[in-house]
Amino acid sequence: MPAPAPAPPVGAAPAPFPAPAHQPSAPSHELRAALAGVRSEVAKAVVGQDAAVSGLVIALLCRGHVLLEGVPGVAKTLLVRSLSAALDLGTKRVQFTPDLMPGDITGSLVYDARTAEFSFREGPVFTNLLLADEINRTPPKTQASLLEAMEERQVSVDGTPRPLPDPFLVIATQNPVEYEGTYPLPEAQLDRFLLKLTLPLPERDDEVEVLARHAAGFDPRDLAAAGIRPVADAALLARARAEVAQVQVSREVLGYAVDVCRATRRSPSLSLGVSPRGATALLATSRAWAWLSGRGYVTPDDVKALAHPTLRHRVQLRPEAELEGVNAEVVLDTVLGSVPVPR
Ligand SMILES: Nc1ncnc2c1ncn2[C@@H]1O[C@H](COP(=O)(O)OP(=O)(O)O)[C@@H](O)[C@H]1O
Ligand SMILES: [Mg+2]
Repeated sequence: MPAPAPAPPVGAAPAPFPAPAHQPSAPSHELRAALAGVRSEVAKAVVGQDAAVSGLVIALLCRGHVLLEGVPGVAKTLLVRSLSAALDLGTKRVQFTPDLMPGDITGSLVYDARTAEFSFREGPVFTNLLLADEINRTPPKTQASLLEAMEERQVSVDGTPRPLPDPFLVIATQNPVEYEGTYPLPEAQLDRFLLKLTLPLPERDDEVEVLARHAAGFDPRDLAAAGIRPVADAALLARARAEVAQVQVSREVLGYAVDVCRATRRSPSLSLGVSPRGATALLATSRAWAWLSGRGYVTPDDVKALAHPTLRHRVQLRPEAELEGVNAEVVLDTVLGSVPVPR
């Protein structure tokens, strides 16, 4: 029996609890179990926030970057630190501050007086999993150097391209952009993030559990003491990715994903809808979700479940709509409610 599917990375859409049509083979079952293990390791530190954890696992399967948004104090940093601790991968963390320079991210040429030569000193971007914490607190020039590395998966400093490790994944956190003293990420470059996950304030019960853990001595600075161990490595993720690539998608479901994206382009509330690149992202995330749910094929419900986190940062609201209190979630709900579902 495959484990029950974890919560999908959304708030509104219905959770697909699939009945597997075929018994998954032992290896894929083990791979899924290992990824479920990543979730349980993270849960040793982070209470709840299941949707965000699902989203991070999907990003690992798709080798996609993630933007994690939420007000201060909802465990954005703790979540990514816990994920790092649960993975046997190279991880680094950069706190994005107003005085950070592009070279502090990518690396820079340093002069060695003894050899009288310049050599390249790698920046923190040379890692598997980079936590870019509070990315909107750093000025655009430094943000741009990270966004460029994310897109190209390489860094060129003195004209020499240097490839980044594989996998290379950025998880960037930000507070909602209306906060003072921040630099919103350029809208046109937001689609370099595969997913935008939002961390809500916890439910009361979850918040009580957070306090109970603190009362029992939990120290968020010491994740080893919380018992988080690495349970997945790059080779395991590569095997899981190969399985995801085998997940079937019918022409009808492809058509449905495309129709959802096309409908955003006609929405009167939007000045910019989802691009074809966004549509391919929706296919990738739906496929990973189908596999995680124990299925060998994608259903329209998979597409629905991943539409919000995959598309919410790829649309631009008209100012009038924004003034009326409309947001990307409302628009996407309307679109999902209006596009005919195949079968
Ligand atoms: N869902 C949660 N699970 C566990 N701890 C939480 C949770 N939400 C908040 N906390 C507590 O609040 C602290 C603040 O979290 P942090 O990761 O610094 O927040 P953020 O990066 O969102 O500002 C955590 O270290 C933890 O003690
Ligand atoms: Mg933080």
